[in-house]
Amino acid sequence: MKDLKEYIARLRYDFSKQTLDEIDVHKNPLIQFEHWFKEAVETNVSNPNAMVVSTASKEGKPSARVLLLRNFNENGFVFYTNYNSKKAVNLENNPYASITFFWGELERQVRIEGTVVKQNDSESDEYFSLRPDTSKLGAWSSPQSNIISNRAELDDKFSEMKEHFKGKNIPRPPFWGGYTLKPNLYEFWQGRPNRMHDRIVYELEENNEWEIGRLAP
Ligand SMILES: Cc1cc2nc3c(=O)[nH]c(=O)nc-3n(C[C@H](O)[C@H](O)[C@H](O)COP(=O)(O)O)c2cc1C
Repeated sequence: MKDLKEYIARLRYDFSKQTLDEIDVHKNPLIQFEHWFKEAVETNVSNPNAMVVSTASKEGKPSARVLLLRNFNENGFVFYTNYNSKKAVNLENNPYASITFFWGELERQVRIEGTVVKQNDSESDEYFSLRPDTSKLGAWSSPQSNIISNRAELDDKFSEMKEHFKGKNIPRPPFWGGYTLKPNLYEFWQGRPNRMHDRIVYELEENNEWEIGRLAP
């Protein structure tokens, strides 16, 4: 264990693959995100759509977890989850959230901050209908973020739901659906040597224009 601690303390990685300059980024951060996302996919970054979604309680206590990005467009960044989960309770009381992607193979991080709204039922229904039946049953079977007595409880619930919906179309549970984060800030981070990283930030101004700046690393 002592060796592991020493290993962690001495772990060094110098970022050197690429640079990011104000003149190279797109004026529209959504298009810039799309460029980087495509590059993450083309570079075979593992789970490129995995992102840390950070929320906070009414009292400001933060909570973060990995979720999968399922869509992004002018309206925002979409993820799906259980509407009774801890994150859902946070969002109900405090709609501010942030999303963080880390694409290690590209030495890149993207941070997006904004406000979150629930998707409407038809949007959530449409996405739910695309999921495999096993995932649909999973959504029905899990009281996400609640304490359960043991694994068997979960497996029994799954079997019960499987039996219940046998031969039937599995509808979206009313307690499951999408959220859209509408950004007011983006930051694109590119690792550089000697910890002198490039950080380009976009902030949404009152006139609805994006102002681009550079942050110190
Ligand atoms: C790679 C990965 C992807 C995940 N994707 C989702 C997702 O799309 N939706 C979801 O509800 N949970 C997803 N999870 C589980 C969440 O991280 C988390 O455990 C769960 O949503 C409960 O979070 P909460 O208690 O803070 O609400 C994923 C976990 C990992 C590691």
